[in-house]
Order: sequence, then C-alpha cells, then structure tokens
Amino acid sequence: MTMPVADTGTRLGIEGVHKAFGRKPVLRGIDLTVEPHEVVCLIGASGSGKSTLLRCVNLLEPIDAGRITLGDLDITARRVKANHVRKRIGIVFQAYNLFPHMSVLRNITLGPVKSLGRSRAEARDEAMDLLDRFGLADRARDYPDRLSGGQQQRVAILRALAMRPEILLLDEITSALDPELVADVLTMIRDLAATGMTMVIATHEMGFARDIASRVCFLDAGRILEEGLPEQIFTAPTQERTQQFLQRVVEAGRMGGGRSGA
Ligand SMILES: Nc1ncnc2c1ncn2[C@@H]1O[C@H](COP(=O)(O)OP(=O)(O)O)[C@@H](O)[C@H]1O
Ligand SMILES: [Mg+2]
Repeated sequence: MTMPVADTGTRLGIEGVHKAFGRKPVLRGIDLTVEPHEVVCLIGASGSGKSTLLRCVNLLEPIDAGRITLGDLDITARRVKANHVRKRIGIVFQAYNLFPHMSVLRNITLGPVKSLGRSRAEARDEAMDLLDRFGLADRARDYPDRLSGGQQQRVAILRALAMRPEILLLDEITSALDPELVADVLTMIRDLAATGMTMVIATHEMGFARDIASRVCFLDAGRILEEGLPEQIFTAPTQERTQQFLQRVVEAGRMGGGRSGA
C-alpha cells in the first residue's frame, strides 16, 4: 500500500485560537502546528473541545481570536472563501453522512465533478482506483444502506480522499460503529498514514492513537494541556489531569482498539 495519496505537504498552523459558544469558552488559546505527513491525535474527555477545534480548522465554526494557517495562507482571514479551504482540508465525522439516494460511486465522484471540475470519466476512474485499493470495488454500484456501518464509514473516508485533500481531519470516526466493524476502518487509516497523509484525528481509541500518532495532544477544558510522543503521553504523562484521564480510560477498558484489537 504505497501509492501516494498525499504527495503535497502543507503545514497547518493553529495559533492562539479562542472560541466560545455564547458565554461559554470552549477553546481557550490553542496553539498547534501540524507538519506535513504528521498524524496528530487529539485525546481528552468529552466536552474538552476536540470536535470544535476540528470544526474551526474546516471553517465550520468561526473563531473568536487567533488564526489558522494552511501553508502561507491565513484561512481565517475574512477574505478567504470557506469553500476554497474545504477543498484542501477534508473532514470525516462520526456519522458518515453518505447521500442515501446515490450509489457508492456517485457519493465519491460528486465532489470532484461538482467542485473540482473533473470530468465524470476521470472522477469515476479515480473513485474506482480508491475503492479497489481499499477492497470496496464490488460495492461501487450499491446504495449506502446495503453496506455495513464500517463499509459506509470507509466510503465516507474515500469520498473525502477523492477531493485530494492536503490534510484530513477525522472526528471520532469509529464511535458509531459496532466493535467488530472498527478494525477495518482503523486499518484503512493506518494505510493512509503510511502513505504520508497528514491527519488530525480526534479519537477515544487510545490503542489506535498510541499506534498511529506521531504526536498526541491531550485537551482539557479547551486547552492543550500536554502534548508529546504517544509513548511519553501514554506511559509517562507529566500532567495530573492527563494521568487522571488515562486512568479513567483504563478503568473503562478502552485502552485497547489498537493493533491488538485489529
Ligand atoms: N454548537 C454549539 N453550541 C453550543 N455549545 C457547543 C456547540 N458545540 C459544542 N459545544 C460545547 O462546547 C464544548 C466542547 O464540545 P466539543 O468540541 O464537542 O468537545 P469534544 O469533541 O471534545 O467532546 C462542550 O461543552 C459542548 O457542549
Ligand atoms: Mg467530539
């Protein structure tokens, strides 16, 4: 699995980002640089701001202060068009949101045809290549409801990849799946990481994060309280809050889900 998905390398810069919903501060000064081909995993309790951060990067939420850069471009500058940025930054959510009335193939080719101006034939060839590569070619003509949740989520990831994003954001993409369907999705993400896809992944699959991340960030109440190599964060966290969080994860039996679970 070495065909490059991501040949471009673009640095993502998150600088002093603040975001509140009403009076409630949700992001309280986030600084994070993601280098090309890095895989950064965001961990932290529910409500710590992981989803909001990813949504801000994809310009689904406006930020209150700070800035976010993609290469040299300040994507949070007022003149920048969100649609232009979203062509460069892909996002996949927990609920895969495939279009139910379109075949798998159409779901994947829609974006490239409609917003990248690809010809149908070209988009179809590329989509079939992607489906083939991830073992889903025989599902191309099916409608989403004929697929398992894991297959649907893999198609949703392919739909994002078909746009050839420079960075892929993944928000708890296995949370809605039955446990036995999680492994195939995680395997796919590992393959993407191996081909150099730059990714920011919010996940509660700690085994997976430990296995795949080049860097792990622990979010606590809207701040990155601690970041480091997975080995360091998971075995020798320096912050008490990180220790408490990981302790709770262990108690809940959620430390697995990595290679051993695959
Ligand atoms: N659209 C919104 N309106 C109001 N509050 C929100 C909205 N989205 C998220 N929040 C709040 O922001 C906080 C962080 O949420 P979220 O980013 O979803 O955290 P996480 O993904 O880490 O669980 C939570 O308290 C949540 O209730
Ligand atoms: Mg979330």
